[in-house]
Amino acid sequence: MWRVKSLDAILATAEKKSLHRSLGAFQLTMLGIGAIIGTGIFVLTAEAAQKAGPGMMLSFIIAGFVCAVAALCYAEMSAMVPVSGSAYTYSYAVMGEMLAWMVGWALILEYAVAAGAVSVGWSGYVIGLLENALSINIPDLLVRGPFDGGMINLPAMGIALLVTALLVVGTRESAAVNAFLVCIKVAALVLFIVLAVPVINMENFEPFAPLGFAGISAAAASIFFAYVGFDAVSTAAEETKNPQRNMPIGLIGSLGICTIFYILVAAGVIGTVGAQPVMDASGAGLRPGSPEMTAACAAIGDAKVVCSKEALAWTLREIGWPQIGNLIGLAAGLALPSVILMMMFGQTRIFFVMSRDGLLPPILSTVHPKFKTPHIITMITGVFVALFAAFFPVGILADISNSGTLFAFAMVAIAVLVLRRTDPDRKRPFRTPAIMLVAPLAAAGCVYLFFSLPTDTQIMFAVWATIGLVVYFLYGYRKSHVAHGEPGEVHELDADAPPGPVPPMPGT
Ligand code: ALA
Repeated sequence: MWRVKSLDAILATAEKKSLHRSLGAFQLTMLGIGAIIGTGIFVLTAEAAQKAGPGMMLSFIIAGFVCAVAALCYAEMSAMVPVSGSAYTYSYAVMGEMLAWMVGWALILEYAVAAGAVSVGWSGYVIGLLENALSINIPDLLVRGPFDGGMINLPAMGIALLVTALLVVGTRESAAVNAFLVCIKVAALVLFIVLAVPVINMENFEPFAPLGFAGISAAAASIFFAYVGFDAVSTAAEETKNPQRNMPIGLIGSLGICTIFYILVAAGVIGTVGAQPVMDASGAGLRPGSPEMTAACAAIGDAKVVCSKEALAWTLREIGWPQIGNLIGLAAGLALPSVILMMMFGQTRIFFVMSRDGLLPPILSTVHPKFKTPHIITMITGVFVALFAAFFPVGILADISNSGTLFAFAMVAIAVLVLRRTDPDRKRPFRTPAIMLVAPLAAAGCVYLFFSLPTDTQIMFAVWATIGLVVYFLYGYRKSHVAHGEPGEVHELDADAPPGPVPPMPGT
C-alpha cells in the first residue's frame, strides 16, 4: 500500500499524450477565475455573516491566506509534474498508493459535492430572479431541500442533470465561452462594489464579532469554499505553454484577484445592510440552512441578509437598486452553471485516472465510441450530484466539500516538502519560496480550518474516509496496476492524443 508510481513514469506518460500546448498565463488566470468565483461569494456570504457577523471580513482573509500558501505548494508541484489528476497523482508519486487513494476519495467530496452546492446556489439566484423580476411565485416546497423548509430543490436538480448531459456529449467549455462568463461574473462583482462600497456606514461593523473568534473561524472554514477551484488550473497543466512559468502565474494570479474582489464585496455587504446574525433565545447563533433558522427568518420576514439565498442581489435591492439586483441575479444564473461544469469535469477526470490506474473498476474508464467521453462515470457522477442538490442545503454541501478539499490541500503541502528531501535534484521550475515555512503553514492552516468545520461535518468526513479505506483494501489494493507491474493503459480522452507505448515502471 506504500507503493508509489514513479514521477518519471508519470511524466513520460504525459509526454506521450502530446496534447496541444496552447494555454498561456492569461488564459490560465481566466480559467482559475472561472472556476473560483461562484456560489461561495454570491451565496455563502450570507452564511458567513450568520456565523461571524461583520467579523466575516477576517474570515475571508484567513481562508484566503490558507489558500494562498496552499497555492504556492500547488504551483511547485504542478510546474514540476504537469499532468492530469492533480493532488491524486502527486500523492501517488510521493506518498504511496493508499494515501493517493485517500486523496482521490477525498477529491470526490471536493468536486462532486461542490458541484451539488453550486447547483443549489444557482437555484437560489434563479428563483430570486423569477420572483423579483417576473413576480412568479414558486412554492418553497419545490425549491428547497427538506432541511431548509422545503421538500425537494427541483431547479438545482435540473441544472445538475443538464450539465451532466452536456458533459456526456462532450461539452468542454471553450476558452472563449469561459472568458465571456468570467467577464460577466467580474462585471457583476464590480457593479456591486461600485454601488455598495461608497455608501458604507461604519456603524454597521459594530459589534464586530458577536459570536467571538470561534464564529470567525467557523465562517472561515465555510467561506473557504469561495476560493476552491484555483487548483482546477493545475489540471490544465498538460495543455499549457511553458507550464513552468505560466502555472504559478495562473494559480496565484487567479487566487489573488479573487481575494481582492471578495474582501471588497464582503465590506460592501456588511457596511450597507449590516451582517448581524439571527440568534436563538439564549443568544447563540442559529445554524444556517437549519429548520430553526428558516423559521426564525420567516418570523422577521426574511429582513436580514443572513436569511437571503441571493445575498448580493438582496443587498442591492435593499439599498435602492432593485433592477441592478436583478441583473446580478441574471449574471449568477448565467455564469454559475460553468462552475458546476468545471467541478463535474474535474470529478470525472479524476475517476478516470483512478480507474486507469486500476484502483477503480475498468468499466468506469470506458470511453463513449461517438462522443469520446467517459460517459458511464459521468452519468453516475451526475446522478449523485443531482441527488445532493435536490435534498441538501448549500451550506452543508459546501462544508462537506471543504472537508475533502482541506485534506487534499494538506497532502499536497506535505508532498512538496517530502519531495524536496527525497528527490532534491529534480528540476523545479517553480520553487515554493520559504518552503520550510510555507508548506507547514499550509498544512497547519488546513488542519485548523478542518477543525473549525461543524462537528457533524468532521464526523461525516471520518466516516467517508473509513468507507474509502474499506473499498481500497477490498478492491484497489489487489487490482492496482502498479501492484501488478502494469503501468496502466495510456488511452486518453482527447481525440488528438495518440496512444503511445508506456515506458516500464521503474521499481515494479
Ligand atoms: N469556489 C467555487 C464557488 O464559490 C467552488 O462556487
